[in-house]
Amino acid sequence: MNKVTVVGAGNVGATCANVIAHKDLAREVVLVDIKEGVAEGKALDIWQTSSINNFNTRVTGVTNDYLKTKGSGIVVITSGLPRKPGMSRDDLIKTNAGIVKDVTEKVIKYSPDAIIIIVSNPLDVMTYAAYKAANKHSSKVFGMAGILDTGRYRAFIAEALGVSPKDILSLSLGGHGDTMVPLPRYTSVNGIPINELLGQDEIDKIVERTRFGGGELVNLMGTSAWYAPGAAAAQMVEAIVDDQQRIFPCCAWLQGEYGLKDIYMGVPVKLGKNGIEGIFELQLNKEEKKSLDESAKAVKGVMKVLDDMKLF
Ligand code: NAI
Ligand code: 2OP
Repeated sequence: MNKVTVVGAGNVGATCANVIAHKDLAREVVLVDIKEGVAEGKALDIWQTSSINNFNTRVTGVTNDYLKTKGSGIVVITSGLPRKPGMSRDDLIKTNAGIVKDVTEKVIKYSPDAIIIIVSNPLDVMTYAAYKAANKHSSKVFGMAGILDTGRYRAFIAEALGVSPKDILSLSLGGHGDTMVPLPRYTSVNGIPINELLGQDEIDKIVERTRFGGGELVNLMGTSAWYAPGAAAAQMVEAIVDDQQRIFPCCAWLQGEYGLKDIYMGVPVKLGKNGIEGIFELQLNKEEKKSLDESAKAVKGVMKVLDDMKLF
């Protein structure tokens, strides 16, 4: 990949650029921010680790100059306000919708063929906003949340069992919010079903902690997380750049899958060089389907707030 752009050089954007560079996933990573000098400074700082950490990816930064992003193959959008204590992800919509629309239009002007990965919150609805602004096929516009949510879930399970998090296989569906649907029935430790290793009470506690995993960190730090979110977005970039055909939960446009239509939400997808190359539909039981429908209802409620803003 020649060029990857990361918009928003804040906590998540800079971390994402840093991981992409350390994995040498592109010839160049361009960081963009509106705050004068911030993207330039962080890019320079990351680039100065190249000789120490042995990577070639050139990291550059610009203040609001989209010409420098021209010809990007992938654009990760992290610009917008993060959550503060007491705020839900949905509280961010009014400010972040305008930012995501504006940024997407600028990005598309110079990189019409780019695959766009949204990180800004409220994630599912910001991905919808970017889809509307980009006017591209939905396989090229999608969001990051499920890798983060399952990353948290897998870490909690690994901790409970005293095993490597690498061996935890799992899935989570639904919106990136408290209604997300982690799926214990699809969770295993390298094939060993989780319910053969942990009791129902413990599984329930882990699922609950995962649902509120973002809030736990906001309460600890006074702002939302960035290491795991940045790494999760970079993992999506890696799957696309290397055409890995990996299966990840990502925020995708549903057109009848799971009985849901015209909604962006987390589902398992195949990621490759063309973006989303397939959506997997699971045979959910009644309870799982009910939880997914509740999550969809919550996302639709926030979509309505966006629609009522009449930005599009
Ligand atoms: P941050 O405040 O550290 O960084 C955001 C950056 O966006 C700032 O540097 C700001 O100057 C920049 N920005 C604002 N408007 C801009 C514009 N029009 N053009 C370019 N840059 C602009 O926030 P952080 O922690 O990096 O979070 C970024 C977003 O990601 C938030 O909306 C947050 O809620 C979301 N998030 C989503 C996650 C997910 O799982 N999808 C996980 C963690 C954060
Ligand atoms: C998170 O889950 C706030 O969406 C952000 O950390």
